[in-house]
Formats: sequence, structure tokens, C-alpha cells
Amino acid sequence: MSFERTLQRTVGADILAFAPPVLQQRIVERASLVKLRLPEELRTDHWYNDWQHAVFVIIFDNLMRTMRAGQLELANRLLDRLTVYLYVHFVCEEEGMTWASDKGHIEAEMLARHQKAHVFFLDVFHRTIQAPYKRGEISPREMFARVEDYYRKILAHIDEFDQITYGRRSGREESVTCAEVAHIGQSGLPLSPNMPGAVPLVARCNPDVAKLLMADKLPIRSGDPMSPLSLIEKACTDGSLRHRVTSVLAA
Ligand SMILES: [Fe+2]
Ligand SMILES: [Fe+2]
Repeated sequence: MSFERTLQRTVGADILAFAPPVLQQRIVERASLVKLRLPEELRTDHWYNDWQHAVFVIIFDNLMRTMRAGQLELANRLLDRLTVYLYVHFVCEEEGMTWASDKGHIEAEMLARHQKAHVFFLDVFHRTIQAPYKRGEISPREMFARVEDYYRKILAHIDEFDQITYGRRSGREESVTCAEVAHIGQSGLPLSPNMPGAVPLVARCNPDVAKLLMADKLPIRSGDPMSPLSLIEKACTDGSLRHRVTSVLAA
């Protein structure tokens, strides 16, 4: 499947988030992107997060392939897409987990640890990959090695955190995931880099990261303002992504 085709499918996924949960599940199974791209051990059965994880795998694979082939301009665009996807995914996942925690399906301590891990991941990405590469401080070869290492750590995070918090090792009922996905779909958050509000979301979380994106090369509507948000009303942990998103709103 070509990269372009895959991205078209992710636009479809955005729309899917607004469909009733039972319908969502059926459509995603038929599309089978997750089955094609995500190894069995990384599937959490949280269909929306699995979809986003599968797209991660595709972007990481394409980024490394283009870097290996010396296609640095394309690699730069893929790096931007990966950057926006990381923020969109972690914020959506955090909102879903907060919803589940509010309903008593995730321990507060587990939620806090998971949120911290996301913030740490984004910080490492900016400090060791995005910023030094964009500023020409590391070579493509060094960048390739760092992306490869980071990719491995992202996959390990799915296994060590996602699976336990809401995935196959969480012990939750399928109906919880369906209700959580419906909440994420109605939250107003952008669900992929193709959606309006994706770049403003990155800017709210970390303005330095957003400044390094090539705005004119990103999907056309990604820079549009965010929709009004309808996030779960639960106190945000200081420094968490939800905290950054909502404190900018309150300012
Ligand atoms: Fe995840
Ligand atoms: Fe996670």
C-alpha cells in the first residue's frame, strides 16, 4: 500500500471517530490497516489507538526508508508529520485515559505515570531529534540512528504502558473502550495531522516544537484553529499535556 493511500485512509479514520462505536469497529476491521501493519503483540484492542499506532509504524518505516535512500527533503516532511502525530496521539490517548480514570477504570497513579512518560518522550524527541536535525547540528546518518532508537522505545512504550493501562493486559471490558473512543471522537481534539487544529495543538503543548515545523508543507487544514474543546472535567496533573492544552485556553 502506498504512503499516500495510507494517509487517505487516515482521513477516513478521522470521520470514523464520529460514527457509533459498533460501526467503527466493523469498518476498521474491514479496512484492516491495523492487522496489516501492527504485530499481534502490539495490538491493544483499543481500536482507535491501535489505528494511530499502526500509522506510527508506517511513518517511522517511511522516514527511515527515505533517509536511507538520501531523499532528505521528503524525510524532512515525514519528520514533521511524525512530530504532529506524536502530539496528536499522546493528547488523544491522555484524554481517553482521563475519561477512563474518571469512570474508575484506571488508577490515578497509573494515569499520572503514563502521562509523565508521554511528556518525557516528547521532550526527548524535541531535544535529541527534531531540534538538532532541523538546525543542522547532526548528520542524516546520526539522525537515522536516533530515529531508529526512538522507534524501538515507542514500541516498547506500547508494550510496557499502553497494554497495561488500557490494552490487553488492563483487564477492562470491550464496552469501556467503545465508550472511551466515543468520548475522544466528541472531544473536539484533532485526531490526525490532517485535521484542523493539529498544529495549534502542538503549539499549545510546546511552541518551540511548532516553530520548527514547515507550515507550508503540512496538510492544508492542519494549521486551522482548533474546534471548541469538550474535554473531561477532571483536574489536570501539572505539566501533563492536557494541562498545557487547557492552561493556554484559560490564559
Ligand atoms: Fe500510544
Ligand atoms: Fe501511551
